[in-house]
Amino acid sequence: MEVVIVPTERVGSVGADIVGSLVRRRPESVLGLATGSSPVAMYADLIRRHRDGELSFADVRAFTLDEYVGLPADHPQRYRNVIARDFTDHVDLAPNAVHGPDGLAADIAAACTAYEQAIEDAGGVDLQVLGIGTDGHVAFNEPGSSLASRTRIKTLTRQTRLDNARFFGDDVEQVPVHCLTQGIGTIMEARHLLLLATGRAKAEAIHQLVEGPVSAMWPGTVLQFHRHVTVVVDDAAASRL
Ligand code: GLP
Repeated sequence: MEVVIVPTERVGSVGADIVGSLVRRRPESVLGLATGSSPVAMYADLIRRHRDGELSFADVRAFTLDEYVGLPADHPQRYRNVIARDFTDHVDLAPNAVHGPDGLAADIAAACTAYEQAIEDAGGVDLQVLGIGTDGHVAFNEPGSSLASRTRIKTLTRQTRLDNARFFGDDVEQVPVHCLTQGIGTIMEARHLLLLATGRAKAEAIHQLVEGPVSAMWPGTVLQFHRHVTVVVDDAAASRL
């Protein structure tokens, strides 16, 4: 595991360097995209590089990590809409090149299986972007998640719903209770994991991720078993290392 500690304002550009060099080297890359605030600066940097003519995503395919269950198709916090707004609508990804778990599926189990199959059919994920929750969750794999888990429905913890209430008018009751998420086992199959975190609220989760014993109670710790992980953090997120 490589841990890169940089000033807060450089986390996005260091992440964009890693994504950019992959996409230039392998234009048909399969990217795994995370939502949440952590990668927003990186996406902004990638959009700028695309607009400057440095980067094309025309042959890239992308898979998002997770999705709330039951949010209406046009809800602004539906992760499909979030990733479009933060990144994919602003670059030249082909129509239908972005896939996400279907939080509106009538048959949730079948939708999860189909999602896993779509990732496999694409040849797997080359580079998976990740954030981390304050309680150590990765995607929506909350503490206690099986470290071998696959894409499935999960119940969000109260802590995650409180953390995400800021996106729902600060009203935790508006935050969905269920989500679909790639499993830890699914995420671990990506060939390179790029985890971004900023701020003191993430310091304990980053400490556990890098230095803690591997435990389902801190799901991020399983990344210690991955062969190619890059963690890009600012000084505050690194303050407990
Ligand atoms: C959210 C998402 C995760 C994200 C994490 C951290 O609930 N499901 O994919 O990485 O929690 O979010 P943020 O980057 O906003 O702190």
